[in-house]
Amino acid sequence: MATTRTTTVTAPARTNENRSTTPGSAGFKSYISSQWAERDDVLPASREQAPYAAARRARISAQYPGQRLIVPAGSLKQRSNDTDYAFRAHSAFAHLTGWGSDSEPGAVLVLEPTGNGHDATLYFRERAGRDSDEFYANPEIGEFWIGPRPSIAQVASDLGLTVCGIADLAGVLDVTDSETLVVREADTAFTDRVDEARLRFAAERVLGSNAADSPFSVEINGAHDPDVHFARDLSELRLVKDEYEIAQMRLAVAATARGFDDVIRDLPRSSSHARGERLVEGVFNTRARSDGNAVGYDTIAASGPHACILHWTRNDGPLVPGDVILLDAGVELDSYYTADITRTLPVNGTFSPVQRQVYEAVREAADAALAVVRPGAIFRDVHAAAMAVIAKHTAAWGMLPVTAEEAVLPDNGHHRRYMVHGTSHHLGLDVHDCAQARRDMYMDGVLEPGMVFTIEPGLYFQPDDLTVPAEFRGIGVRIEDDILVTETRGENLSAAIPRTASDVEAWIATLTA
Ligand code: GLY
Ligand code: MN
Repeated sequence: MATTRTTTVTAPARTNENRSTTPGSAGFKSYISSQWAERDDVLPASREQAPYAAARRARISAQYPGQRLIVPAGSLKQRSNDTDYAFRAHSAFAHLTGWGSDSEPGAVLVLEPTGNGHDATLYFRERAGRDSDEFYANPEIGEFWIGPRPSIAQVASDLGLTVCGIADLAGVLDVTDSETLVVREADTAFTDRVDEARLRFAAERVLGSNAADSPFSVEINGAHDPDVHFARDLSELRLVKDEYEIAQMRLAVAATARGFDDVIRDLPRSSSHARGERLVEGVFNTRARSDGNAVGYDTIAASGPHACILHWTRNDGPLVPGDVILLDAGVELDSYYTADITRTLPVNGTFSPVQRQVYEAVREAADAALAVVRPGAIFRDVHAAAMAVIAKHTAAWGMLPVTAEEAVLPDNGHHRRYMVHGTSHHLGLDVHDCAQARRDMYMDGVLEPGMVFTIEPGLYFQPDDLTVPAEFRGIGVRIEDDILVTETRGENLSAAIPRTASDVEAWIATLTA
């Protein structure tokens, strides 16, 4: 047993005391805390996803009999000084509670072991009364600053969960022991408290003394292994989507399709602006917002040679007629389920012959990958099918020093120079969902009905790539669709968004006419 433990995370300073904030005078304080109407706390009906979240909790409960399971939502993350990023709860927390974009920072789900399973309790920072100063004086959580927070009874009714105030969480830390597991990365400051509680428990058990006074400590080495396994199992719990999740994915895809339509309608304006990529991003994100949604990741609006940069999110270039623009974007719903779709569009409405050639090669790869999808197939075979097509075309265009058949051999991979990313990733609450799943369950996993993943082959011919004939240089194409594994096949959820070169041209012609 070693003698170190994890470093306590210290929040960076927030400096705003030297500017005028809330008054502290006695007259102000007594006046602002008086004469507020009684609240009429209407209890909402339990939300649609509540029974699905309960079923997911039952599944993870069955995997961890007798162990206390802690799943924090996470806290606000500092952007700069006293401003934060928009709050986004951890996906495992959203999955197990059904709480999405309206979830509260600092909330924690605890599954307490019982004789035959677990009792779930959600702890969250309940609304402060008008007799406190929190509601007007605390910019991070005060109602005057960030809006009303629900009551304990409202959250309990909404999520169909037992709910307690955050102060009661101290009681959980008091009984935290070596059988307690926590999702470590969700809230690092809270994880430090769990680690300290585990150390106290270990010290008391071994020495019958208080950890603070004892020479005893435990090395956690950055990742307490059982916690890592817990995170892995929570990730794998999301590999197969339930019917609520599949319905949400369909809605997210439909909302994304509306954003793509708007981008096309706006092409005449964005292609005459010095930073047309910014306009494309703005139009897509505006459609998401005006439909009441968000985006699941930073929109990639990559025109001309920027299309060869896989995650181009600076989006500060122009749309030049004659070039293509690669738009990789996805709408995220209140439930946090997101689409992830890419289309590559000719800025002037018509692909050049060489652009069309590249585009159709990528589409052939995508179609070949989709043809492999069915229950029982192996995830990596979807990728292999796409790669065979990419190798075939890049070999035929004279870009490879070997044949296509040689290129796909395990020790080769020359064709991957033009597509360095994978063909597919799972999709759901996270754009790259289930990322902590074991390789056996993911890349080498067997496809099952209810899985949702992308198929997104591409070809990216860098402007300075000497292996590429000059006419191909600077062209980047990706086609990305969201695929549901049904009982018999792969269903392309985004098939309604035009995919073939001719359909894309017709789409642009119709919407810009
Ligand atoms: N849509 C971005 C990605 O899949 O990485
Ligand atoms: Mn993707």
